[in-house]
Amino acid sequence: MLVETNPRALLEAAAACSAPESVVGPLQVGVDLGTATCVLVVLDAAGAPVWVDAHPSGALRDGVVVDFAAAVAATAHLRTRAEAALGGPLTTAATAYPPCIPVRDARACTYVCETAGFVDVVLVDEVTAAQRTLDVADGVVVDVGGGSTGVGVFRDGVLDVLDDRPGGGHHLDLVLAGALGLTVEQAEAYKRAEPEQALPILVPGLQRIAESVRLMTRGVEHLPVHLAGGALMIPGADSVLAGWLERPVVTYPHALLITPLGIARSAP
Ligand SMILES: Nc1ncnc2c1ncn2[C@@H]1O[C@H](COP(=O)(O)OP(=O)(O)OP(=O)(O)O)[C@@H](O)[C@H]1O
Ligand SMILES: [Mg+2]
Repeated sequence: MLVETNPRALLEAAAACSAPESVVGPLQVGVDLGTATCVLVVLDAAGAPVWVDAHPSGALRDGVVVDFAAAVAATAHLRTRAEAALGGPLTTAATAYPPCIPVRDARACTYVCETAGFVDVVLVDEVTAAQRTLDVADGVVVDVGGGSTGVGVFRDGVLDVLDDRPGGGHHLDLVLAGALGLTVEQAEAYKRAEPEQALPILVPGLQRIAESVRLMTRGVEHLPVHLAGGALMIPGADSVLAGWLERPVVTYPHALLITPLGIARSAP
């Protein structure tokens, strides 16, 4: 089978994959530690996704591992499940850190994976990982996750500018919770269950994220913006960003799998 290069088809395949009867290795493993969710993706020898699994994380804040034991437990849990489903040991992996955090904090992501049982661990930044899935030649890749908004400007497929600011799905939950008198957990559930009702309340929060993107991409206003990460999966969020930025915004299905898939593509 050929390696799937169309990002939309790759994302659909990742979202649909379930434990196969047999897999052809060598396998590539990606671990996205994530503020909201820890995601593990396994690709077969042809680069096709064969296993995607997620576990609520809560072990990271603003990209920094704040609960090492919880991060290790989530990663080890995902690794054990993947090994059982795929029928063999998984010893190498790639993992990622948000752009612009201190090197020592980025290394903590490696140590989490090593402590969770991976012997050989490669570290990439999240935006470069997202680019490995989207294959954007000239454009801005924006990863809006639970905690932060990472931005990478690519020219001729090469990373030119990398930046990151606080602001993501968790901040949208705080806005919703305040407006509707809900707990943050209730707001998170409401946002997913009633996106049409939530959107008007979230417009100022989305514009704030858009303004971060604008400030991080001064001088490249002509380049389109490609959206990765779960926080902008609310229907209509892309239009709010496009309106604020006055430039084309490109969306993808299952956007929260873009970075984890690209991390797996970065694995040895
Ligand atoms: N269907 C959805 N509608 C709205 N928001 C969503 C949806 N699915 C996920 N989210 C939001 O996406 C966020 C998680 O996205 P993602 O998995 O990309 O973040 P993360 O990688 O864990 O965080 P970070 O990259 O900041 O460390 C959460 O805040 C969640 O509320
Ligand atoms: Mg993320």
